[in-house]
Amino acid sequence: MSHERKHTTITAAPLGGPLRGTCTVPGDKSISHRAILFSAMAEGTSRLVGVLDSADVRASIDAVQKLGAEVSLEEQADGSLAGGIEGWGARGPKQPDGPLYCANSGTTARLLMGVLAPWDITVTLTGDESLSRRPMRRITAPLMKMGVQFEPEEAETLPITEHGTRSLRAITYDAPMASAQLKTAVLLAGIFADGTTTVNEPSVSRNHTELMLPEYGVQTTAGERTASVEGPAAMKSAEVRVPGDPSSAAFLTCAAVLTPSSALQIENVSLNTGRTGFLRTLERMGADVDVQSVGQSGKEPYGIISACYTGNLRGCEIPGSKIAALVDEVPVLALVAAHAHGITVFRDAGELRAKETDRLEAVVAGLSKMGVDSWTEGDDLFIEGQPGLVLPEGLVFSSRGDHRLAMTWALAGLTGKTPVKVCDFDCVNVSYPHFLEDVEGLVR
Ligand code: S3P
Repeated sequence: MSHERKHTTITAAPLGGPLRGTCTVPGDKSISHRAILFSAMAEGTSRLVGVLDSADVRASIDAVQKLGAEVSLEEQADGSLAGGIEGWGARGPKQPDGPLYCANSGTTARLLMGVLAPWDITVTLTGDESLSRRPMRRITAPLMKMGVQFEPEEAETLPITEHGTRSLRAITYDAPMASAQLKTAVLLAGIFADGTTTVNEPSVSRNHTELMLPEYGVQTTAGERTASVEGPAAMKSAEVRVPGDPSSAAFLTCAAVLTPSSALQIENVSLNTGRTGFLRTLERMGADVDVQSVGQSGKEPYGIISACYTGNLRGCEIPGSKIAALVDEVPVLALVAAHAHGITVFRDAGELRAKETDRLEAVVAGLSKMGVDSWTEGDDLFIEGQPGLVLPEGLVFSSRGDHRLAMTWALAGLTGKTPVKVCDFDCVNVSYPHFLEDVEGLVR
């Protein structure tokens, strides 16, 4: 599959019927990145199934190959990647020939900083225009406390050159924001430090790293807002089955909630509570959604999400402590809120400004095109819903190169009565390449 950026404009026309039946979504992006990076770090050959085939995940695959991991993942009939990764283990990664290009992927860049920390190599990390604007000090600051050197030392953004060290110091770090990428980078470095490395967080972020590392032979301890690893530890190969991505499922769920007569079941989705905050929010808005637990893949719970059309949604307030559990779903939840009675408030959502684009500003601008009043006060996002909302003719949205915005504005057209255009739609390749076909294919 090609993941070149083509800047295509698409027309998202009303679906013309309900979404019904049973479907699946591509593999979870966060778990796929971790499976690739952890397998590359481990001794021996790991076996991975259900890996997301997307531009972001390909950036992680390219990086670990350039660092010496042997990757033999192959495309499967269902569009996922499966196969083996032979890691560098105790040998460590090799010095790559040139910079590692992380494309649009913040997870690749930030987690790699932790992966590279314990080795005597010098690696420059670069990214596309959007990634090159995103904050990196949140990662370099704690890693410097552990003994890693970065050039330029004060760098806020990529490109950044990292000089790893074999003598890392274990630290206890009070993270200024709830970020699983920050937590993961520090814990990955901590695997090779002498003693206990701990990250404390202001609120709960996704815990895939804490759940997956034990599969690779690294013991972790995790509490409500704290996680630790005991170093030094040797990483061994693992078998990982990646469940479907709840962040992708969120778009199908919201599409069903907004489209009359819909009744949809999405199977094999990660039900990690650090990721399913959008379902709890939809429930509080009165939406007819439900989850059914099926089992565990490793320590990751997975199951079925059911979603039905709901005509009488109401606004609700999401406290700041719950934002991390739905951080990637705020744009699509804002679209649902635009159709609900009353005001929806996302408190302390400032982290959305540090995503692929400033998502707070982009959501307010997009909703305003739709004729919906929304605004920010500090880091709080307010949306005044309009039940029965009908969009003006001829709306053209820009994705701003942000996959979650591209899918959100496409849903505005797909679930409405008026077609809309979305410019620069190809960025959906970052997380959900066949999003449009999948939604349209569910219309009955
Ligand atoms: C991710 C963590 C979140 C999320 C991103 C993936 C991860 O970012 O927005 O899409 O895989 O750890 P932050 O760590 O910046 O909150």
